[in-house]
Amino acid sequence: MGMSASVRKAVFPAAGLGTRFLPATKAIPKEMLPIVDKPTIQYGVEEAMSSGLTDIILVTSRGKSAMEDHFDESSDLIRFLEGRGKTALADEVRKVSSLTRVSAVRQGDPLGLGHAVLVTESTVGNEPFAVILADDVYDANPPALKQMIDVFERAKGPVIAVERVPMEKVSSYGVIDATPAPEFGKDVYRIHDLVEKPPRDQAPSDLAIVGRYILTPDIFPALHETSKDKSGEIQLTNGMRRLLKSRPLYAVIVDGVRHDTGNNLGFLKANVYFGLKRPEIADALREYLKTQS
Ligand code: G1P
Repeated sequence: MGMSASVRKAVFPAAGLGTRFLPATKAIPKEMLPIVDKPTIQYGVEEAMSSGLTDIILVTSRGKSAMEDHFDESSDLIRFLEGRGKTALADEVRKVSSLTRVSAVRQGDPLGLGHAVLVTESTVGNEPFAVILADDVYDANPPALKQMIDVFERAKGPVIAVERVPMEKVSSYGVIDATPAPEFGKDVYRIHDLVEKPPRDQAPSDLAIVGRYILTPDIFPALHETSKDKSGEIQLTNGMRRLLKSRPLYAVIVDGVRHDTGNNLGFLKANVYFGLKRPEIADALREYLKTQS
């Protein structure tokens, strides 16, 4: 099978302040903090590209234009590197900008993940699209989004990525009530309900929503009709809950390793994990880690 033409656009909500990484994020978007030598968001963009998506829509805010610059053409830098014979590095830089079309939409007031998706309504238009939370970095083969698109094409309905988490952690996630739907693939579920960050004793399961969604454009009217929660935010989970009234939604446990890089410890672990995958530093890093235990 070739690349999918069904889902072309990937929305990256990236307007947050990155307070967990202050002071590093005073002047640098948290999405630009590198895991080894690549900005966190580039892992998500490369996942989208290798899943066949072609259009990246960044949802940004004031002070975060470094992301747009990062994915822009950089012919001066490429000429400079080629002039010095650094062709491999030049290719690496070229790769960042050549394979995608990147546009940016401002979120304005940060009114939640559902709101971040809503501001992309006219840019996404009337077609299915992906939402990627760049904090969640997957190491998966096929890529996480590709696995989800395969389910989307079989089930013909929105698909969200889920993971089983320990019950003491469910209150940090959206949680689904679901039953297996093996007719659409391994580890696929049909969703019966979704609850955003339930207390442990009210969680319908241990299946937590992680940062990947394949959505259909009818999520936009559903989000328009979704009221703000107690904290004044429009939750994507509540928008999907509304959408569930008019169509089936599906979830899939992605086959791969997920890193939650949105906190300091998870970010450091991801650096070690991906560092150990780099032949040029893996052995030295492993030796160093032994001296620290
Ligand atoms: C968001 C969603 C939540 C989901 C989580 C995954 O929450 O609202 O449903 O489980 O992303 O990372 P946030 O982590 O932005 O508070």
